Amino acid sequence: MLHTRACSENAFMIVEALKWIGGTDGCLELVDQRQLPAEFVTLQCRDVQSLFDAIKTLAVRGAPAIGVAGAYGLVLALQKLGPNDSVEEALESLTEARTYLASSRPTAVNLFWALDRACKRANAQHGTTLQSLRETVLAEANAIYLEDIEMCRRIGQHGQQFIKEGAGILTHCNAGALATAGQGTALSVMFEAHKKGKRFKVYADETRPLLQGARLTAWELQQAGIDVTVICDNMAAYLMKQGKINAVITGADRIAANGDTANKIGTYGLSILAREHGVPFYIAAPSSTFDLNIKTGAEIPIEQRAAEEVIRFAGTQTAPSGVTVYNPAFDVTEARDIAAIITEQGVIENPNTERIARRLPPNPV
Ligand code: MRU
Repeated sequence: MLHTRACSENAFMIVEALKWIGGTDGCLELVDQRQLPAEFVTLQCRDVQSLFDAIKTLAVRGAPAIGVAGAYGLVLALQKLGPNDSVEEALESLTEARTYLASSRPTAVNLFWALDRACKRANAQHGTTLQSLRETVLAEANAIYLEDIEMCRRIGQHGQQFIKEGAGILTHCNAGALATAGQGTALSVMFEAHKKGKRFKVYADETRPLLQGARLTAWELQQAGIDVTVICDNMAAYLMKQGKINAVITGADRIAANGDTANKIGTYGLSILAREHGVPFYIAAPSSTFDLNIKTGAEIPIEQRAAEEVIRFAGTQTAPSGVTVYNPAFDVTEARDIAAIITEQGVIENPNTERIARRLPPNPV
């Protein structure tokens, strides 16, 4: 059963977004984020297809969470094999499942990072029994899950210094516990500041078209007892002009070697507004979100999503049938507009290629 878990040192409770239940024949339990905040419903993925659908339709979402889910998806792939199947056949099934799951969403690099890491580990086991291969892949998925929990906690601890007493903080989309295995990235910074007894106010952009800010971020912060105010996306400039925002903190889906950062559509606009108003703009992300194989943000693939998401709102049609829709899910914020990237390995101020390379070793996969 998924439930809440104590945020570091029992300060308050945070939600558990996903959890593997059982051994190699188990299943992945997820909070169905499509239903929040109206209903808290969980779903169990017992095969690769149901996990693919859960990722594609955003039942599970957020860069670190889909990485962890993807790794467990490889455990599900191995459950399909029978006693007569060889380890070679199992490795082929893994490659197939890896390719299929990787085709669910293109932007967040954590998905590819986790899939590749678990596949690499499995391939190193070539020649052992099918059951030991299953155990190896489950152990690697569990390691990715546990590491993510720890990375989230450290990001919060490194980042809480940027939240000053009495500050107004703007965030976009949801980079909370729901988006990770742990206590989130951008929201982890807020949780740790809250734990220290700081008083501050968070403004959560509603985040059109799917409202991750209004539905998920506001829900998480409210549960933690943090002062949160929901605003429509087009209100951010006015709030900055009024001096209500002292820092912007968001998560990330992929960070290029030079620090350019893909995050939910609308983040780029916020970075320009922040620059104009002299407000520091922070990205909070684990090292698994860095893609050091690409030099700049221009190389980050941007997911395009269905027109339906834009022309319907809560089941009601809000634009004429047949109208042309453009629905990119992410945009890229330039490194020059990022005051610092807060990682589990420390803070990278004024990020650029040299500073990032110095702080983070090359991609482990
Ligand atoms: O489309 P989503 O909801 O998966 O987009 C999520 C985001 O953009 C988050 O900000 C990002 O993944 C960081 S989550 C710690």
